[in-house]
Amino acid sequence: MKNKIKIAVFASGNGSNFQAIADAVKAGSLNTEIALVVTDRPNAYVVERAKQANIPSFAFMPSDYDSKQLYEEMLKEKLASLQVEWIVLAGFMRLIGPVLLGAYENRIVNIHPSVLPAFPGKDAIGQTMAAGAEAAGVTVHYVDAGMDTGSIIAQESFKVNGRSREAVEKEIHAIEHRLYPATLQRLFTQ
Ligand code: GRF
Repeated sequence: MKNKIKIAVFASGNGSNFQAIADAVKAGSLNTEIALVVTDRPNAYVVERAKQANIPSFAFMPSDYDSKQLYEEMLKEKLASLQVEWIVLAGFMRLIGPVLLGAYENRIVNIHPSVLPAFPGKDAIGQTMAAGAEAAGVTVHYVDAGMDTGSIIAQESFKVNGRSREAVEKEIHAIEHRLYPATLQRLFTQ
């Protein structure tokens, strides 16, 4: 049997999408190995989640490096030493630069809580609500140098129908936690 694809999950916060991916791996519905969780926020809850799941994590402070190029070189080495083949962004709050984009061409994906190209960038759910948009949703896309501009892999939307922000947010996360592992499985078995 072919070796499992090894991935690194990059996250800056709560890590509920990391959790969904780790749960899917454990349940056998996602055939991959999470070799490392990478965070730019050492206190992020995702670190605790990784620990609970017995998955190694690596925290770094971007401010300890003189440039994005330097910390990405460091990450590139680290990922190469673990034979990581794909980078999965799950709430990672930084743009990926040329070093990692070059090393992982078409092998970096992201999940975003809007129906792209509508509402890229920060607080997409807030943007969706403030605009009074008819639909909200989730997009999984390849990562390029722009902010949520890479080509779309999977998308799901639903009607807002006057629901509160909390209700919309809850629905978005429920979709994310199902859509991301399923989309990764599809990508890895293509
Ligand atoms: C998710 O809504 C994801 O779409 C966005 O950041 C959020 C991360 O949530 N990119 P979590 O840390 O996975 O709970």
